[in-house]
Amino acid sequence: MIRTIARYGARHVPGSMVAALKAIARGEGLRGPYVQQFEKRFAEYQSMRHAISASYGRMAFYYILKALELASGSEIIFPALTFWVVPEMARVSGFRPVFADIDPSTFNLDPAKFEAAITSKTSAVVPTHLYGQPCDMDPIMRIARAHKLAVIEDCAHALGATYKGQKVGTFGDASFFSFQMLKPLNTYGGGMAVTNDRTVAARIRALAEAQEWPAAKGVFKKILLGNLQRKLVGPYGFTFTMFLAFYIASFFGDYDLSRYLWESIRPLSPLPESYRKRYTNAQALIGLRMLENIDKFNALNRAHAAKLTAALRDIDGIQPPASPPETEPVYYQYCIRAAEPDILKHRAIRAGVDVEIMHVDICNVLDVFQEFKTECPVAEATQHTLQLPVYASLTERDLNRLINVIRQAVRRPKPLVRATDPRSMS
Ligand SMILES: Cc1ncc(COP(=O)(O)O)c(C=O)c1O
Repeated sequence: MIRTIARYGARHVPGSMVAALKAIARGEGLRGPYVQQFEKRFAEYQSMRHAISASYGRMAFYYILKALELASGSEIIFPALTFWVVPEMARVSGFRPVFADIDPSTFNLDPAKFEAAITSKTSAVVPTHLYGQPCDMDPIMRIARAHKLAVIEDCAHALGATYKGQKVGTFGDASFFSFQMLKPLNTYGGGMAVTNDRTVAARIRALAEAQEWPAAKGVFKKILLGNLQRKLVGPYGFTFTMFLAFYIASFFGDYDLSRYLWESIRPLSPLPESYRKRYTNAQALIGLRMLENIDKFNALNRAHAAKLTAALRDIDGIQPPASPPETEPVYYQYCIRAAEPDILKHRAIRAGVDVEIMHVDICNVLDVFQEFKTECPVAEATQHTLQLPVYASLTERDLNRLINVIRQAVRRPKPLVRATDPRSMS
């Protein structure tokens, strides 16, 4: 059987889908005991007092923004490199997103650039622990406290990552997590808001619980279709679906069809109806099982990243991600800088390995943020970064094959130049 390597691999605990579908069949798809149990265990996992579930990570962020009662029209600082939806939710909520540049070695908010972006109108900062790499929280917290800014940590990529031994999502005033299919904890959608502040938690809960329940049929479909998608990006499913399309398209120039798989970048006002829903019992059941396994999954990603770094660090033209001391990333993505990323991607897909160019958005140059445009050259240079598969379900053989494909792709006729300064690799 032909085996290819997809760029993503969704996490899954065997038996959880059937258990969730059975709960729906019993009439416990929406309401039931698991939401409260999941929230309680999640808060315990984070060593925080309150965790409140939501229909999406973005909605958890939206409720946090409202619950913190920040001055309307105030400025909120985001790293320029993040998922466009997050600053858009701030814009929709009546705030002005301000983009600050990132650190070239970690891809995360640069504390000095954050400080330089503060004005008398700034009310909050949203450090994103991008790709599962913790932000440099000591200076970020020091600067934020000195300027009396709220800190809302975006932990969508980073459940389980630590900074100086402390879990991300426990430093600021509140944090949020995503349970979208590809995220560290997959419940086929959903999110969580976390805080130690009782008043803020009560406000978030009131907002989340004021939403409508989704249709039980819709939850059934979401879990079933989600599982189908998970199988389609699995080694055999991918071989006969997207890989074929990517492979054929690679003979016709612009072959990266993946942009068609993503949510289109657009203004989100008014908020889509589908966002204003409650998180469900069936998803929370899956969440409980995922949470029991999260450390095991993260350990696999870390081991895979360590193997990739050891094998790639000496290859000319490749720069593996940095791992600053005292941080323990979870490697949601494994982001490399490559001197010739397009050539490398092209050669990899021809050899059966799908790698992704970029993953998130350079928000400061997006049309949707036209009125908030700024220059963030380090973030802009990341348009040429590559994400290598690193997910937990890769086998030893897959990893060896991936390493060989990258080695050969770099060595083949057109030599790739060595670059040592990440800024020179744009
Ligand atoms: C960095 C980041 N923040 C927030 C989110 C939002 O999560 P959700 O899709 O659950 O709303 C995502 C989702 O992809 C993300 O990548």
